[in-house]
Amino acid sequence: MTSTDTPDRQTGPAMDPESLALHLLGATQEAAMACVPWVGRGDKEAADEAAVAALRSALAGVPGQGRVVIGEGEKDDAPMLYQGEELGTGTGAGWDLAVDPLEGTNYCAGGAEGAIAVLSVAPRGSMWGTPGWYMDKLIVGPRATGAIDITVPVEDNLRRVAEALDKRVEEVVTIVLDKPRHVELIERIRAAGASVIEIRDGDVMGSLLALVPGGGADVALGIGGAPEGVLTACAARLLGGEMQGRLAPQSDEERSLLEAEAVDVDAVLTLDDLVAHDACAFVATGVTDSALVRAPRPTLEGWRTSSIIVTPRHRPLFVEALVPSGPPRAYDAG
Ligand code: FBP
Repeated sequence: MTSTDTPDRQTGPAMDPESLALHLLGATQEAAMACVPWVGRGDKEAADEAAVAALRSALAGVPGQGRVVIGEGEKDDAPMLYQGEELGTGTGAGWDLAVDPLEGTNYCAGGAEGAIAVLSVAPRGSMWGTPGWYMDKLIVGPRATGAIDITVPVEDNLRRVAEALDKRVEEVVTIVLDKPRHVELIERIRAAGASVIEIRDGDVMGSLLALVPGGGADVALGIGGAPEGVLTACAARLLGGEMQGRLAPQSDEERSLLEAEAVDVDAVLTLDDLVAHDACAFVATGVTDSALVRAPRPTLEGWRTSSIIVTPRHRPLFVEALVPSGPPRAYDAG
């Protein structure tokens, strides 16, 4: 589907991703600011709660008829914007939302690098939702599109990506979540000759490093959250990269949820499945420093926030913006 097509289920005015992204930037900035008092305080729940409340309140003022299609929370029993929740002013274009108010809750609680507030939007009816919690993902930047296939062994994908990038496999840099389920995957990647950057959390940001020019990685892969998969798909689509996914239930509870809705867990999900429209937008604001965005910093004039916006026109746009009011203090925010 192209930006000029209208998705089947969309009615009313078309969503303008460029202006919507600016409104949404205000919302991720608010969420990031709300987390500031909780950075390094060892309380990821409180940080997440603060981010959810701030984002929900900011999204209420965003023009249009928004609806949460997929969000974080279910798998961790964490505070959340719930699936189906209506957001926005309620008039104007309809949009679907994928959201993680605080991605990298452990990073925030531990005062470590890598936490962001992040969301993606697409025209109403074009974003994929699932009752599943985990997804296997394979993501590459624009130069390696067409080279990947999530159904073949990782060694083959590494060879194909190396060929597309005109590199040796030994020069291919991958990003993988450092989780027990990935011990074998990481060993195999290294045995094939490629390198692995292991990240404890945050595979949206990890995937961006493979998608953004100069991000430093060639491939992001492995099993992470399903909402993070849809968030990433918007960025991948806009940045001209490729992504394939496949649900990867990690527990009997999750398998039952999928069975109850007769979901085909073996289906390979392409970018067109995950976000079926080009007119989407991805926005993330730093909560703590990371390779692409920085933590909010106090200045004499207000707080300086650091964000990345990806839209059809901006691929990407890095935004340093002043937010006049400071964050609440931790004991006020609780
Ligand atoms: P949070 O938003 O809960 O901090 O998620 C962090 C994260 O690492 C994601 O980036 C990733 O997709 C997911 O958790 C992996 O889940 P798990 O930690 O359960 O393996």
